[in-house]
Amino acid sequence: MKRLDGKCALITGSARGIGRAFAEAYVNEGAKVVIGDIDIDRARRTAGEIGEAATAIRMDVTDQASIDNAVAASIDAMGRIDILINNAALFTAAPIADITRADYDRVFAINVSGTLFTMQAVARHMIARGGGGKIINMASQAGRRGEALVAVYCATKAAVISLTQSAGLGLIGHGINVNAIAPGVVDGEHWEGVDAFFAKLEGKAPGQKKREVGESVPYGRMGVAKDLTGMAVFLATPEADYIVAQTYNVDGGQWMN
Ligand SMILES: NC(=O)c1ccc[n+]([C@@H]2O[C@H](COP(=O)([O-])OP(=O)(O)OC[C@H]3O[C@@H](n4cnc5c(N)ncnc54)[C@H](O)[C@@H]3O)[C@@H](O)[C@H]2O)c1
Repeated sequence: MKRLDGKCALITGSARGIGRAFAEAYVNEGAKVVIGDIDIDRARRTAGEIGEAATAIRMDVTDQASIDNAVAASIDAMGRIDILINNAALFTAAPIADITRADYDRVFAINVSGTLFTMQAVARHMIARGGGGKIINMASQAGRRGEALVAVYCATKAAVISLTQSAGLGLIGHGINVNAIAPGVVDGEHWEGVDAFFAKLEGKAPGQKKREVGESVPYGRMGVAKDLTGMAVFLATPEADYIVAQTYNVDGGQWMN
């Protein structure tokens, strides 16, 4: 018996990176997954590589019609949704003086509105079906503390922590657990862009920022996506039924609360 046998999960932004690792871990634990991503070509490739337990569905979490379609298509494909991971997000960075309203609107639309309204659409399905469910939101250590060059992204992740608390309290009466994971620095394609940004802004050599952040982690290295899968599986199991509205740091010791 595997830990997620028979469970059906929608994972947003899972064509690559951490979301993809979640999809693989869930399938390894016996679940069916929908890879919901705006990059449908990549999502299809990822689903094909994972195998028949994975289905790719185009989903733009900034568009309500796309959220509703993806939730309906996930239910069609899997029969129901027991687990949602709100993983899709966008990272941008700029000095305070250079932040644009367009960038602010875009990052909030994906990271905050996307999380809230995908959570709402899936919660409506879970409430109507009965039997509860699990919702896991991807926060970040960036949501615990501001950063001079990352104001907008940090604010979105603080909002995700807050939404997790409110939705956790609002939905537990329906047997729906809402919790969040706050990773630290997780190596992958996303970090190539972050490294390049700091190389440009601070005159660092390519790879230098990554090296520095890795060395600053108490554990001794940057995280990798697989470091997060244990928590993502655990929070989706009945062992986590009594855990409500929490945000867990999985960050090699960077943040304590
Ligand atoms: N990598 C890190 O260091 C780190 C640290 C803390 C938190 N996180 C969080 O973990 C999660 C995954 O991070 P990652 O590094 O794997 O990111 P990533 O950039 O590698 O992947 C993000 C995925 O989201 C998809 N996406 C983007 N916009 C979308 C939209 N509008 N609708 C649907 N899908 C969309 C992308 O196509 C991509 O597949 C994010 O929530 C991120 O904020 C990452």
